[in-house]
Amino acid sequence: MPGYEFFGNEERKEVNDVLETGIMMRYGFDGPRKGIWKANELEQAICKTFGCEHAQLVSSGTAALTTALSALGIGYGDEVILPSFTFVASFEAVLSVGAIPVLVDVDDTLTLSPAAVRSALTPATRCIMPVHMCGSMADMDALLSICKEHKLVLLEDACQSIGASYKGRMLGTIGDAGTFSFDFVKTITCAEGGVVMTNSAQVYSSCDGYSDHGHDHAGVDRGADLHPFIGYNFRLSELHAAVGLAQIKKLETFLSIQRKNHSILKARLAAIPEVSFRRIPDEAGDSCTFLSWFLPTEEITKEVVTEMRSQGIMAGNFYWFDNNWHYISKWDHLKNAVTLNKLHPDLRTAVVHHATKDFSASNAIMSRCISSLINLSWTEEQINTKGEQMALVIDKALKKHAVTY
Ligand SMILES: Cc1ncc(COP(=O)(O)O)c(C=O)c1O
Repeated sequence: MPGYEFFGNEERKEVNDVLETGIMMRYGFDGPRKGIWKANELEQAICKTFGCEHAQLVSSGTAALTTALSALGIGYGDEVILPSFTFVASFEAVLSVGAIPVLVDVDDTLTLSPAAVRSALTPATRCIMPVHMCGSMADMDALLSICKEHKLVLLEDACQSIGASYKGRMLGTIGDAGTFSFDFVKTITCAEGGVVMTNSAQVYSSCDGYSDHGHDHAGVDRGADLHPFIGYNFRLSELHAAVGLAQIKKLETFLSIQRKNHSILKARLAAIPEVSFRRIPDEAGDSCTFLSWFLPTEEITKEVVTEMRSQGIMAGNFYWFDNNWHYISKWDHLKNAVTLNKLHPDLRTAVVHHATKDFSASNAIMSRCISSLINLSWTEEQINTKGEQMALVIDKALKKHAVTY
C-alpha cells in the first residue's frame, strides 16, 4: 500500500510551509502560524474526498480505532465482534477501551463472515467491527442488516482500504464511524497518522475532545478550554498532516495505477484454472492494493510459498496464514492474555477463550490464500515477468500434485 513510492516535491512544499512558521502543533498559536492549518485542511480534504460529514485526525490508525470506540460509547462489558484475519491493532484497540474482543471466522471475502457474526451474537454484543483487509471490502449489506436488526454499532476498520468503495460509498464512511491509517505503508501516508470519519456530529465532537485530553476546543485560549470528559493525547502534528495533504491530492493517481497493474497480474494468474480469487462484494469498489488468490489445497499453497521463497520471488507476496501479525494462528500473546498490567478477570477469561475456539473455517480459507502487493512503480514488463515467474512455480506445484490444466 505504497503512498511512500510517490513521495516528492509536493510533500516537501507542504512540510516547508509548516517549518517556515515553526508552529508544528495543530491547535492554538493563531497569530504566529500565519494562517497555516494543515491538520484542519487535511480534515476538510478527507470529508470532501471520501464523502463524510466529519473527520478527526489522530496520531495513528490504532488511535483512530480507540478514539472511535470510545466516542461510540463502547467500554467495560461490551463485546465487539471482529475477524480472525486483521492486524493486531484491531483487537488492541478493543482491549484498550476495556471492551471484550470476540474474534470470529472470515469467509472467502477475507473479511467478517456474516454467518459467523450471527452465531457470535450475545446480549453483551454492542459493536461489529468489519476489517476491510487488503484493499477490499466486507459484505456491508449483510453486516448493516445484522446491526439494524440487533441495534448494534458498526465501526469500520478501513485502515488498509483507503479509496475503496461499496455500492458507491467509500469504505470507512458507511458505518457509525470508520477509520483509516496513514502509517508509512498505507495507500496514502502521513509517515504516522490516522483518522476517524463519521456522519454524526456527536461522535465527531467526542473524537475531537477524546484525542486531545478532553479539550472542548471552544475558544482560542487552550488554557481556558473546559474538559467535559476525560481524554488522552492522540494528536497529529502539523508536520504529519502536511505530508498527508500532499498525498491525498495524489490518491486518484495511486488508485488508477494500482487498478491497471492489478488487472495485468490478475489476467496472468486467471489463465490458470486452479487459481481462484478472493470474492469481492462490489468488484468496482476494489482499491486493488493487493491481488488475493487461492490455490486448491493448503499443501499446494505451502509448496508454492516455499518455492517462491527459494527463488527469491516471494517479496511483496504475503502468506497471511503463517504471518505473526495478521492471523489468529500466531497470536499466542492474545490467546494467553499476555499483558503488562492486570486485566479484569472476566475480560481475561473471554480473551483466553480464543485459544480453544474453533477457527477451522478461517483456516480453510487463509491456508490457501496468497496476497500479492501491487506496487505503483512497476513497469508493464516487470509485472509480466512477475506473473510468468509465479505461474511457473504454481504450474510446477500443481503438476507434482497431479492437478492438470
Ligand atoms: C487493519 C488495520 N487496522 C489498524 C491498523 C493500525 O494502523 P497504525 O499502524 O496506523 O496504528 C493497521 C495498520 O497496519 C491495519 O492494517
